[in-house]
This record gives sequence, C-alpha cells and structure tokens, in this order.
Amino acid sequence: MDQEDSRAEPPSGDETPRPDMPSRFIRHASLRQLQILEAIVRLGSFTRAAEELFLTQPTVSMQIKKLSETVGAPLFMPAGRNVEPTEAGREVYRAARTLMDALVDLEIRLADLKGLKRGRFRLGVITTAKYFAPEILGAFCEAYPGIDVSLKVSNRHRVIERMSNHEDDLYIFGEPDTIGLPVEATYLAPNPLIIVARADHPLVGASNIPLERIVQERFILREPGSGVRDTITRLFGEHGLKPNVRMELGSNEAIKHAIIAGLGISILSLHSLNLDAGAGRLSMLNVAGFPIQRDWYLVHPKGRELSLIARTFLAFAVEHQVNIQETLARTHAALCQSGPCN
Ligand code: PGA
Repeated sequence: MDQEDSRAEPPSGDETPRPDMPSRFIRHASLRQLQILEAIVRLGSFTRAAEELFLTQPTVSMQIKKLSETVGAPLFMPAGRNVEPTEAGREVYRAARTLMDALVDLEIRLADLKGLKRGRFRLGVITTAKYFAPEILGAFCEAYPGIDVSLKVSNRHRVIERMSNHEDDLYIFGEPDTIGLPVEATYLAPNPLIIVARADHPLVGASNIPLERIVQERFILREPGSGVRDTITRLFGEHGLKPNVRMELGSNEAIKHAIIAGLGISILSLHSLNLDAGAGRLSMLNVAGFPIQRDWYLVHPKGRELSLIARTFLAFAVEHQVNIQETLARTHAALCQSGPCN
C-alpha cells in the first residue's frame, strides 16, 4: 500500500524516495492527533484530554476517528467510565511518546542556540519547597530577565507523575532514589519535619516527648500522595503505633490553620513555617527522634538532556543553598522562643 502510494506521486527532481519513510502516517496523521492520543492514554479519558489540551470533546473524538482510520484499527475501548488503548492504540502511544520526546529535545537544542537571552523554564516542586522556590525563581528572573518561568506546586506523587510525563524542565523533591525511575539528583537543602502544636498546648515546653504520648493526641494528616504523609505513616508503623487521625487536609497551610483552630497537632516541614513562624500561635514540640531529617534535591530523569536554561538554574539554585539554610535557622530560632526545642 505504501509502495503504491509513493509510485502514484513520484517526487520531483531525480531524488529517490527514502524507502523507510512511513508515508501513510506522513500523509494522513498529524502531530496534533498523536498529542491527543498521548493525552487520552495518559489520562484515561477523552473528556480529561480535551480539557488539558483546551479542545472540545467532539474535536478530540473526530481527530481520534481520523487517526484510527489511518491506522486501520480501533485505538480505544471502553473500560468502566474511562477508556483504555487497544493493542494498536498502545503501539501508536509508544511511537507518539518517542516522537514527542524527540521534539522536546529539539526545542531544547533550538532554545540553546538562543542562549540565555530568551526562553522559558518550568520548575515542578513538592509543596514543602513552595516556601522557598519562588524566592530562588525571583532572583533567577532578575538575573535573566528574558526568561519566562513557571512554577508548579504539587504533592510528591503528582510531582513524580509530572516528571514521568516530562511536563517540566526540573523538579525539587526528596528521596529521589526511592521513586523507581532512574534520575539525576543534586542535593539542594535540608527539609526537616517537626511536630507542630498550638502555642498553648500542654505539651509545649516538655522535653523528649515519646512518640507513644503523641499518638494520644488528635492528629491532622496530609492527603494520600503526600510525601510527608508517607514518611509519617512509615515512622509510626516502625514503632508499632498508629496516629489518632482526626482529619485529613490537602495542604500545609490548611493544616496550620487547623492546628491554630485547636483541631489537633501535625507533622510539618520546618520550611512551611518560614514566613511567619506561626505568628506566635504555633510551637514545635520536643519529641524523641525529631526532627526527621529529609532533604530536597534538584531532580531530572536520567539521560534526559537539560536545556542551557535548566542547567543555569540548577547551578543558580545550588549557589542559593546558603540562603535556604539561613532562613531555616531563623524559623527554627523563632519557633524555639516558647520552650525547649529539638
Ligand atoms: P508532600 O511533599 O507535599 O508530598 O508532602 C513533601 C515532602 O516529600 O517532603
């Protein structure tokens, strides 16, 4: 079929056509269709893909219908309320990913040709890093005013998902060696986790409080997918204990408000208290084994070339380590005013 097509319309001049060119796809498929298919496979739904790509659902369905005619086989089948790719769909998805990755690399190389004068940089960070990342990004923007930056803040599981889908140029999160993907990681800064209570809590001022005492308190836990939640659950589990969970909340800010409202105690990153240290309404409890020492790393998938801009940001952020440490020390000192600190 392909040969017939190329015979029907011979190329002009005397250049011989390359026999390995997938002429059927080149004539009938489009990059947009492959992008749509990639999004549907990843999100499991036509509707969600349409939303993500700012298209209407009929457009998405029409493009997939055309692509499936080119392929000569159905690409999706229903799976409950979602869809999943057929075998042919999966093959097209694999090829689409390879093509998209090659185009991202091309964009990076073309941007590098322009140097640091113009371009864009996307940073994806876990929630605890949002208390510092904007400061580094702000300083970076001042140093390189032609670069547009974006910052996406999500929990650990979502950041890792974004990294697998190559949605950003660089990421900040912890424990990069436990995510099951090969990555390059550069140490950035400490991310200590502390137990926080309202300033008038009876345990404030006590020393070396055992974890067994902590489980008697009402506890506020982060949402599933949070790295802090995973760490806490693991820690209590290792001691054969279970926190007395009063409520689950999806953000560090919401947790701080809930603690101030007297709804319980929680474990937070010390960074999450850096701006106001709880304005005197929050205190750090002195609990045995705390703070839990976690760290932030600048991470990107192994083997994936970093753009010149991303490489420059990485070095810039590492240079700012000292500012992060200073801010952390100030936050610690402010929280310790009320009694013995870890
Ligand atoms: P989280 O990330 O927002 O997913 O809890 C924080 C962390 O892993 O330190």
